[in-house]
Amino acid sequence: MSEIKISPRLKKIADMVEPFPCIDIGADHGYLDLYLVQRGHKGPILATENKKGPYKRLCDNIAKNSASDYVNCLFADGLDFDYRDYQEVIIAGMGGKQIANILSSAKYGLNNFLYLVLEPQSDAYTLRKVVDKLGFKAVCEIYLNEQEKTYPVIKCIKGHDECDETMFKYGKFSLENNDRVLYKYLIKNKIRIDRLLQSELISKSSKNQLKRQLNQIKEGLRYYE
Ligand SMILES: C[S@@+](CC[C@H](N)C(=O)[O-])C[C@H]1O[C@@H](n2cnc3c(N)ncnc32)[C@H](O)[C@@H]1O
Repeated sequence: MSEIKISPRLKKIADMVEPFPCIDIGADHGYLDLYLVQRGHKGPILATENKKGPYKRLCDNIAKNSASDYVNCLFADGLDFDYRDYQEVIIAGMGGKQIANILSSAKYGLNNFLYLVLEPQSDAYTLRKVVDKLGFKAVCEIYLNEQEKTYPVIKCIKGHDECDETMFKYGKFSLENNDRVLYKYLIKNKIRIDRLLQSELISKSSKNQLKRQLNQIKEGLRYYE
């Protein structure tokens, strides 16, 4: 296998993965899976795709890097196949609602999974709510910046944590552990909203919405006092 170099985002996701049989849903190019093998994951890793182009590229990449003993490829939509031999699932690089939808409509439920490693690129609030409803809780979470955007990587195990709305919005683990990337994100957004609220060009209803966002940010920032 030629040396696999991956983005800091994929590296953070890889750091959360345990050495159990795992599925990477929407693996795309398969770099994460190749990197996991390079780092010593013994497989089996099941890399899935639901689109023909990415699926072909994925299969080609796995074969080209002689990783087929560890990584199998499957053309599948979400968790619509028999995945009950796997203990871990990774779903990264999609919207939070899309990830939530894949988990909620899993054909055989989520009982076999010890770990979920999730990286929502939007709507983390919705995802955290659904994950809670499905009987999982975050045991580790880390925020990262990529291309001017800020995302959490969330590792979940079975269980339930009492969470209020601020915790669902920003992540209980990240708030309680004073994640610095989240802190900078909150400060940046506080400044942005403070500025917008001073503008006379913004309608009253938009201002009310911004004020609600600002209050949520202030609730988040209370963890850093
Ligand atoms: C933006 S890419 C992210 C790739 C990789 N997971 C990452 O984090 O870099 C999302 C990939 O997920 C695939 N995808 C989206 N919905 C899917 C689904 N329901 N089942 C399987 N793959 C899906 C897309 O085809 C696309 O290749």
